[in-house]
Amino acid sequence: MRPNWVILIASGFACATSADDPMEVPQSPILYRAPDCPAAIRAPVARPLARLGKRKRFRTFVSGTVPGALALTHGGAASRPELSNGPQSAANRALGLLLSDAPALEAAIEATVVLEDDPRFNAGTGANIRLDGATIQMDASLMTQAGEFAAVAAIERVKNPIRAARLVLDSPHVLLAGEGATRFAHRLGLPDEVPTSTHAAEKYEERLNELGERSKDGTLDFDWRRYWNYEGEMPEAMKHWREHGDTVGAVTRDRDGAFAATLSTGGTSVTLDGRVGDVPVYGAGLFAGPYGAVACTGHGETIIARGVARRVYEALASGTPVQDAVYEALADFPPRIALGVIALDQFGWVVASNNEMAYGLAAEEDVSPSAAHQRE
Ligand code: GLY
Repeated sequence: MRPNWVILIASGFACATSADDPMEVPQSPILYRAPDCPAAIRAPVARPLARLGKRKRFRTFVSGTVPGALALTHGGAASRPELSNGPQSAANRALGLLLSDAPALEAAIEATVVLEDDPRFNAGTGANIRLDGATIQMDASLMTQAGEFAAVAAIERVKNPIRAARLVLDSPHVLLAGEGATRFAHRLGLPDEVPTSTHAAEKYEERLNELGERSKDGTLDFDWRRYWNYEGEMPEAMKHWREHGDTVGAVTRDRDGAFAATLSTGGTSVTLDGRVGDVPVYGAGLFAGPYGAVACTGHGETIIARGVARRVYEALASGTPVQDAVYEALADFPPRIALGVIALDQFGWVVASNNEMAYGLAAEEDVSPSAAHQRE
């Protein structure tokens, strides 16, 4: 008998909604299938916002309250609000599915596919080209109401890494990385294609122009090996790019009140082959459970160090309203380092970032567009 069975049998397949241990999650996604967990449960005590003291102001902080099915998406920290039609299409796609009674996870995945297929965003087709000018490596992850988590890291040659993460959910594993993840995805039917786009190539050229040195005849000389492993001082421009880990993400609440979160990214703008950010790291980039769903974007290394998504979720589980939980995470984050968060609880939703951030919101019940787009 496998050890996991022992754990699950011993725990009586307990529902992950225990008030004593709201963080209880399954030991293995393949052995665990959610028992009949009640839909989102509110913890009894809500902590008042006043204890946060004087409010800081953030470049993006939009929130509201609406019951029923809802999809919230983002186009990445520092993505321009003019690009909001991308995340909005993704949110609309997810809501369409939710209104057909699709589960939260399916809707979040399909929203993420819409964004991965949009070359303006750093995921799938628009994924960043790495420092060597050739490599495209991507991370994607998902998490459900029942605490199921699955991810791929540094995957190559797939157009929709989030679909690869979904395949991992049905495997005995939680995270597949590198060439193994790529082979796994191809073997299970995802086409072998390099997700290049002229947009990503132009972005790379732009960076090259900033980093490279012009010789007398005007040709550009950029030897990326000089920066391999970042020996010596990294150019200022490169530090700045690393702070903008634009990613795409979705959080959804279905008609049963269940939650899901998804993320997909091409990694930070100029980065080494093999670098993995917060997206596929458990508890860092996203978290979901019976109290809500959280999806982050921004500088992966700092998000990992702070376990941002899990921290926000823990606040939800202890009864903090979603707006306060996200506010607190943002207020406590180094202000010069990019962070964006979208999150949902049973009724509330919030979009927040210390930079600008394109996002989309689609709900079963009416959400006034003016309220949805105003800044606090
Ligand atoms: N937040 C995306 C990354 O750092 O890879």
